[in-house]
Amino acid sequence: MFADGAPGAELLFVGEAPGADEDASGVPFVGRAGQLLNKIIAAMGMKREEVYICNVLKCRPPDNRTPLPGEAAECWPYLREQIAIIRPRLICALGSPAARTLLGTEEPIGRLRGAVHDFHGTPLVATYHPAYLLRNPPEKAKVWEDMKMVLRLLGRPVPAPGDRKGG
Ligand code: URA
Repeated sequence: MFADGAPGAELLFVGEAPGADEDASGVPFVGRAGQLLNKIIAAMGMKREEVYICNVLKCRPPDNRTPLPGEAAECWPYLREQIAIIRPRLICALGSPAARTLLGTEEPIGRLRGAVHDFHGTPLVATYHPAYLLRNPPEKAKVWEDMKMVLRLLGRPVPAPGDRKGG
C-alpha cells in the first residue's frame, strides 16, 4: 500500500503502517483511525484530496503489531523518496513510529509533540496517532493544538471553534 493524495501537497501526513482495511483497499487511513484523520483534516479547513498521506511501512505487520525497527529501516528508502518527490512545506508525523523514524530519535511521542522539529530543512510537527485518540479521546485537545501550529506554519487561517466540523 503506497499513498493517497495530491502530488503537489503542501502538507504530508505520515502514519505507521496499513491496517486490515488499508491492506484490503490499498489506500492509507480508510479504517476508523482514517475516519478520524479525515475529521481532523476537515477541522483544519482542508480537504483530504489536497494533502498527501502515507505510512512508514508499506505492508501490514502481522497482527497489526508495532513496526519493528528493522522493518522501518527496510521501508525507509521508499518514504525518503516519497518526501523528496512531494517536497511538502510541512510534515506531520502521526504517532511514535513515524516521529521516531523521521527524526531518528527514541524520544516518546508525548515529548516530541507540541514543538516544531526539522527534517532536512522541512518543518516537522509530531502528534498523537488517530488510533490513540480513539482509545484516549481527551487527548484530542492536544492534537488540535498541534494542528493549529501546523496551520500557522503553513500560513493558513485557524478555523474558529464554531467553524470546526468534528475532530
Ligand atoms: N494506521 C496507520 O498508521 N496507517 C494507516 O494507513 C491506517 C491506520
